[in-house]
Amino acid sequence: MKKKILVSGIKPTGQLHIGNYFGAMKQFVDLQNTGEFEIYIFLANYHALNSMQDREGMKKYSFDLICAYLAIGLDPKKVTLYKQSDIPEFAELTWIFNTQTTMPYLMRAHAFKDAEAKSKEISVGTFNYPILMAADILMYDADIVPVGKDQKQHVEMAREIGQKFNRIYGVDVFKDPQEYIVEDVETVPGIDGQKMSKSYNNVIPLFGTDEEVVKAIMSIVTDSKSPEDSKNPDEVLVYQMYKLVASEDEREKMRQSLEKGGLGYGEAKKELLRKILEYFKPMRERYEYFQKNPRKVESILKKGAKQIRKKTEAKMKMVREAAGL
Ligand code: ADP
Ligand code: TRP
Repeated sequence: MKKKILVSGIKPTGQLHIGNYFGAMKQFVDLQNTGEFEIYIFLANYHALNSMQDREGMKKYSFDLICAYLAIGLDPKKVTLYKQSDIPEFAELTWIFNTQTTMPYLMRAHAFKDAEAKSKEISVGTFNYPILMAADILMYDADIVPVGKDQKQHVEMAREIGQKFNRIYGVDVFKDPQEYIVEDVETVPGIDGQKMSKSYNNVIPLFGTDEEVVKAIMSIVTDSKSPEDSKNPDEVLVYQMYKLVASEDEREKMRQSLEKGGLGYGEAKKELLRKILEYFKPMRERYEYFQKNPRKVESILKKGAKQIRKKTEAKMKMVREAAGL
């Protein structure tokens, strides 16, 4: 049977956090391990330029992100790993989509609306973000795109952009992609209760130092209930995070202790810390290994870019022919 195609990417714009892991990255690995997918995972560095124009930062976070992909268990023998900027055709396809997409359509994007609401001056690149993302997704005929909930609209737009191209030119060049969102973890909360995000300074880092992890966990917001008070676990942030890393028994135990009263926030945080360190230990060790082996990382990216060359050229040939270029 022909395998379904999975495409996803992350921007190298800062320290990765457990929201990225549970919301998106874990799904990459879980789906890889089913053996049912042909998988393309990339480093979205063209996208990253919108928020990071800093050479050293870009280099560091790019390297860190590839180390992270490998550390969480993506296997370069089963997955094509590549850097977006190694395939300049993404920019070419973006241009072609630019010509068929209207400004009012792009103005409906949440990311644009949010920037407007905050009266931010937004770059053309940011305005165009959904189009570049459509190029990423449509280039390799993605069937599914694992992402967190905040990216749902972008995948819908990719689908519509592909359909519009097919309609305009009377061809069947692009396939309909579908977002893949795991409901339980669609929005992992940050230590302040907002969505965990690199941009909000509210993260539990995935590959930070022990001190950074301790500091983040100890800063999780709580209310003023005393240890003896009964607490509603669904309102306790520490418990929301604990659920991600604990076994079912452990989860149940903490739930009951919170409800009954007797478990204070300090204790709960210590237990969360213990579980987080335990859960991510093997990944953090592999991360350190790749950090010390930059050559290996480089060669994996090179191989990835080479592997997708043919596919890229074949798709772009169809696109250019369809448009009479
Ligand atoms: P950030 O908001 O931290 O900048 P990105 O936009 O780089 O994160 O997101 C990378 C991937 O991680 C995307 O698929 C995104 O949906 C997912 N993601 C980010 N934050 C969360 C979160 N708090 N909960 C669930 N998924 C998330
Ligand atoms: N926009 C995504 C994010 O902010 C990153 C991304 C770029 C992406 N291109 C993609 C995700 C294609 C999935 C598929 O996280």
